[in-house]
Amino acid sequence: MFSATCTLSLLALTLPTVFIFFILRKQSKCNISRGRRLTKVSDAYALLNPPLPLACQLQARAIANKHLKQTFKINSTFVDDSVDVHAAFTKKALSLISVREVLWNQIAQVALETVQSNLSHLESNPHHIRFDTFIQRITIRIITVSLLHGDPSVMHPHDIDTVARNINKLWILSKTTVNIPDTLVGEINDHLRRWLPTSLKQENPLEYLIPTYETTWRVIAALVAYTYSENSIRLALHLFLENPSSSQFTRFCDEHPSTESIVKETLRLHPPVRRISRAVVIGSSLSQLFCHRTTLAADIEAIQRSDVWGPTRHEFNPWRHQFSTKEQRKTMLPFGTGPLSCIAKEWAPRAVAIIAATVLEEVKVHRQFVLVMGPCMGQREGWDGWTIQLGGTNNM
Ligand code: HEM
Repeated sequence: MFSATCTLSLLALTLPTVFIFFILRKQSKCNISRGRRLTKVSDAYALLNPPLPLACQLQARAIANKHLKQTFKINSTFVDDSVDVHAAFTKKALSLISVREVLWNQIAQVALETVQSNLSHLESNPHHIRFDTFIQRITIRIITVSLLHGDPSVMHPHDIDTVARNINKLWILSKTTVNIPDTLVGEINDHLRRWLPTSLKQENPLEYLIPTYETTWRVIAALVAYTYSENSIRLALHLFLENPSSSQFTRFCDEHPSTESIVKETLRLHPPVRRISRAVVIGSSLSQLFCHRTTLAADIEAIQRSDVWGPTRHEFNPWRHQFSTKEQRKTMLPFGTGPLSCIAKEWAPRAVAIIAATVLEEVKVHRQFVLVMGPCMGQREGWDGWTIQLGGTNNM
């Protein structure tokens, strides 16, 4: 049914051959291969926002994300082509983040308690922690408590670390093997079921932790890393933490750029979703028998560093967003674009700013800790050499 609808729509829309999306029956005998990375902004928009029915676009995403279904045993809209699953999942996810203004203070409160208790633990022993482990630990706790309404009293740091470690392992395995041990997901869900309220326990709790946590921790880590030594930028984050309102989020003056621009610049250089893939068929709709299915990936990282941002495009400079051009703004795709783009694109930047600002205040201002920087900034991996440790000299 979907295939017929998609095909008719395609014929009616007569898209150019290269970008013909012909979403096939699941039983199709098409060959599948890993396709090209698209680094032109117009190609990314064509891939992510094609003039096709939602059902076709969901199918294109589900096929491209098949490995996530196998790895995380999830059935959410990221891996399922059903329009009903999409509606139900996005509705539920939206309900988690539809907080009124006043609740931003509650997120800030949970962030403060979490960061303080983790640093207090370090003050006694062992005085230092890997930076990525620290950020993962606090992000899981803050998200679980403030978004998923988990019970913080049953969340032990050791178990939180296990959940973070297993999620990381699963991502790595998803790229290298199809033989993924069930125990990793089983262990994560055992912990999540203890932490979460009954309404989320009944479903696969990982479905909600993956989109909320996995992207968020990496933006928080990059934001802290970029701003740790930048006093004027830290001032903006400090003022936002004192008053986490939407007007303060966008406020800038001669002394500092806006918090919104600081988060945007972090997302520009370090988009946690570096590539967004869709399954496509290259060729004409008549060549179904000989078709070749491939995945194309919009290379978000490359597009956001393209030369429209000038010779300093690889440098961290939040001011550029204060005075950006339409052409530059078009390259900003950290949350994707089109009907499947992120439902949290308004919420997430403010949440990561609150959490990163709390880490900076507590580590750098209120306690005797320093962030020791490693040789280069990491993504999901690659934070070797980065630690938070007690005492020492600030390396700014
Ligand atoms: C900085 C943090 C985040 C980033 C960078 C991010 C990025 C993205 C991207 C790139 C997509 C599009 C995927 C595609 O087109 O295939 C997406 C989709 C989505 N994200 Fe996020 N995300 C973030 C945080 C969150 C949070 C906190 C939530 C949950 C509350 C969330 C829920 C979703 C959902 C439900 C979708 C699917 C939307 C749909 O299918 O209509 N994301 N996200």
